[in-house]
Amino acid sequence: MNGKVLVFDSGMGGLTVARELRALAPSLTVDYAADSGFFPYGDKSDEALRDRLPRVAAALCAQVQPDVFVIACNTASTLALDVVRKGLKIPVVGTVPAIKPAAKLTRTGTIGLLATPGTVRRAYTAQLIEDFAQDVRVIMHGSVDLVRMAEQIAAGDPVALEAFRAAQAPLFEAEGGEAIDTVVLACTHFPLIRGELAATVPRPVTFIDSGEAIARQTLRVLPENAAPTGSSGRLWLTNAPGQNQRLVEVGRRFGFAHVNALQI
Ligand code: DGL
Repeated sequence: MNGKVLVFDSGMGGLTVARELRALAPSLTVDYAADSGFFPYGDKSDEALRDRLPRVAAALCAQVQPDVFVIACNTASTLALDVVRKGLKIPVVGTVPAIKPAAKLTRTGTIGLLATPGTVRRAYTAQLIEDFAQDVRVIMHGSVDLVRMAEQIAAGDPVALEAFRAAQAPLFEAEGGEAIDTVVLACTHFPLIRGELAATVPRPVTFIDSGEAIARQTLRVLPENAAPTGSSGRLWLTNAPGQNQRLVEVGRRFGFAHVNALQI
């Protein structure tokens, strides 16, 4: 499969989507961009993100010239997929919480949703629940701590397991939380800490995320005539690489050897 895909997130979470894409289509060129100059997105206002996202997307796409732009971020997609799409001439794939498959999977009729505070309060998320999980109880918890812990773990920095237990506990301690059997990882950072979350969950649950579905959708919309690029994927940052040693290190672990900075 030929062509170039640009996978985008606030930080390292979208690397979980880039990984799925590479596994499905090894011959594709996958570039990765992190809006490191504005990380994290989860605690930013809706106005600030809706203003920034189309500008960052346009600047990155002008520079990278991808065939498809993938917003590998629930926080951004549930708020600004429409405005980003409007500003670009190429297919744009968004990432939204895997509520539909979770609602099909649950046996107890109660699912949990772990996300950023932004994704938890979105009208888009409420609509997904309305459309696909009407007969299911959905308990949500937003955490910026988990995003930061995922970045630490991905970089190989130690984080005490107790911190994971504490960060996800409110989901299970909420009213009705004892019935949760399926947890939607509705932030692309969280598959990076799936093992830590599973090890500290109060009782066994199934964790699901959107990574593979996003990768498949990306290949579906990739133009058939996309040309081979002959280049390996690059890592793009929106502030100086020197300010992001951890991100550069994680990028290297995921196979991104070339790092470029783009001033937004
Ligand atoms: N990875 C992003 C998501 O899927 C959010 C991380 C952040 O708060 O920046 O929601």
